[in-house]
Amino acid sequence: MKVLRTKAELRDALSEPHRSRTRVGLVPTMGAFHEGHLSLMRAARDDCELVVVSLFVNPTQFAPGEELASYPRDEARDLALAEGEGVDVVWAPGPEEVYPEGFATAVEVDDALTGVLCGDPAHRGPSHFRGVTTVVAKLFNVVRPDVAYFGQKDAQQAVVIRLMAADLDFEVEVEVVPTVRDADGLAMSSRNAYLDDGERERALALSRGLRAAQREAEGGATSATALLAAVERELRTAGVEPEYLEARDAEDLTPVSELSGRPVLLAVAAQVGRARLIDNVVVATNPDPGGTA
Ligand code: PAF
Repeated sequence: MKVLRTKAELRDALSEPHRSRTRVGLVPTMGAFHEGHLSLMRAARDDCELVVVSLFVNPTQFAPGEELASYPRDEARDLALAEGEGVDVVWAPGPEEVYPEGFATAVEVDDALTGVLCGDPAHRGPSHFRGVTTVVAKLFNVVRPDVAYFGQKDAQQAVVIRLMAADLDFEVEVEVVPTVRDADGLAMSSRNAYLDDGERERALALSRGLRAAQREAEGGATSATALLAAVERELRTAGVEPEYLEARDAEDLTPVSELSGRPVLLAVAAQVGRARLIDNVVVATNPDPGGTA
């Protein structure tokens, strides 16, 4: 496995594979690997001839006061895990390689997508997604992957990146890989490391609530309110106050009230101890709840 630091080294390593039309998969990460990241690497390994993992804690997607300095970092462990998954190249640049002196450009997707849920100014704000789309656009330009892999846990990020890639004519397939959960249901996240035992127990209310909502949908619920109430019950029982809990169209993130057949994203974010957690499910809804068609 090659570990490269500069754009020049990376472009050099990829020039022959690109010339010979090798299928290149990119897994963008901020490190602190867990099973969720490894599942993205496995998907890339199954599907591509050459797998590139980027490892860069992107400062521009953290709001002032967010945990950039304390974000978990363990490059030696990450490299060993990537190597174990058969990754070919890890690109781990320093901040000055990605954002050299004088860097003054941003890639921004409309706030209908980036100003809601996590991007709502009351939560992380749209600058978070500006940071994500800027760095991912740079990764797409430097790596020029055929496929790029993102996790469903960051459902909004995946929707935003898919639109950015289409709008800017990046010739890349955006592949979204299902959320990996611990045996108790907690969605894997680098931030789970911040939870003590009691907080972890409370954090389980997020996945438990989403599962309850999924059962409501399968049972024929006709309104988003019924699904959200099922999540709320679990959160309340565990004493978890959601930062947001919303039902939105899974493809364009418009708010949903009636369940009309399109897939619905139920998304929740909550602070539990030091950890800001997010989780979601996409529920299939019945196009004909009354059974009249
Ligand atoms: O999902 C992440 O880890 C980050 O947002 C990403 C896509 C690597 C961009 O920094």
